[in-house]
Amino acid sequence: MPIDISKIPSPCYVLEERLLRRNLELLNRVQTASGASIIVALKGFSMYATFPMVKQYLSGATASSLNEARLIFEEMKCKAHVYAPAYKPQEFDELMSYSSHITFNSLNQWNQFKDKVQGFERKISCGIRINPQYAEVETDMYNPCIVGSRLGITRDLLGEKLPEGIEGLHSHTLCENDSYTLERTLVHIEEKFGDLLHQVKWLNLGGGHLMTREGYNHEHLISLIKRLRETYNIEIILEPGSAIGWQTGYLTSTVLDIIDAQGIDVAILDVSFAAHMPDTLEMPYKPRIWGATDAVVGNEKPTYRMGGMTCLAGDFMGDYSFEKPLSIGDSVVFDDMIHYTMVKTTTFNGVGLPSIGIWKENDEFQLLKSFGFETYKDRI
Ligand SMILES: Cc1ncc(COP(=O)(O)O)c(C=O)c1O
Repeated sequence: MPIDISKIPSPCYVLEERLLRRNLELLNRVQTASGASIIVALKGFSMYATFPMVKQYLSGATASSLNEARLIFEEMKCKAHVYAPAYKPQEFDELMSYSSHITFNSLNQWNQFKDKVQGFERKISCGIRINPQYAEVETDMYNPCIVGSRLGITRDLLGEKLPEGIEGLHSHTLCENDSYTLERTLVHIEEKFGDLLHQVKWLNLGGGHLMTREGYNHEHLISLIKRLRETYNIEIILEPGSAIGWQTGYLTSTVLDIIDAQGIDVAILDVSFAAHMPDTLEMPYKPRIWGATDAVVGNEKPTYRMGGMTCLAGDFMGDYSFEKPLSIGDSVVFDDMIHYTMVKTTTFNGVGLPSIGIWKENDEFQLLKSFGFETYKDRI
């Protein structure tokens, strides 16, 4: 049964619980068949109201900051895998208290913190991030292998033997990719770091594995993972973010005004691409809207540009054709707006943050949060 938009406030990020469960079931099947550990990357999906369900299926979570690590510890009730380009000395003790694994981005960082981590009251498994200098990511903004990338250590900076105490390698070079990109990437990882893989207990292959996208070849991924586990006798960890929230929900919005901008009909919405859907401008990509298609040229269909509610000139997305004309007060629902949205929203221009809710499996809507002036004021 489709969800009933009239029961949901505007604007609101709304996750469909049954769609999330479907993703989690699939990820768990891959996890079980391959023997890999799949953990959720909070940078892409940190809607913690769902953590009890996520935890039923996945092996934990990965954090890129103290805040994310603490959220995992408090809300998922497990210890976090952590990686960040650098750690703050004044936060490190607290960070350790929430962590099971810590990956360092440079040998400097490892040398700075190794005594602390090795002297900690319980074992924390430490790794270093490597840069295999191969990525099939078209947008430089999301490519960790651009020339001069600060993310990970290139092979020339590592000797024949890993530093004492390092028991894992971490490589993140994928972005919404399939298993064939992973296969081509593994050629570079193994060519450059293969000898070191024999020295570690685990290899974390980062995120970017879009296993929940239609057409992804899970059997192929499973065979790649099995081969790695057998060849090097290591644990394989995957930490996708997007794949968890992929196509699990929407951003609802309302038409506030319709204007004629020099011949272009613009629907001004109560949401902002810049503040609420920043990836649409960063990547960029054109989000799908329920009941609309790309502008149909030379056709009679009513066509509109979607205008964001900030005064940023570029805060718009166009153009879309609808079956019938839009009116002020109509709902406009953006599809696939759960991953990398809530985690990135801002109150730029003082715009309010969308509410957050869940369309439950029993077909009831649960409003989790609404935000007001205090949220805006707290941030500045
Ligand atoms: C180190 C690391 N791990 C995991 C992820 C999650 O990637 P994705 O959400 O594309 O699966 C990212 C994303 O940038 C990352 O930088």
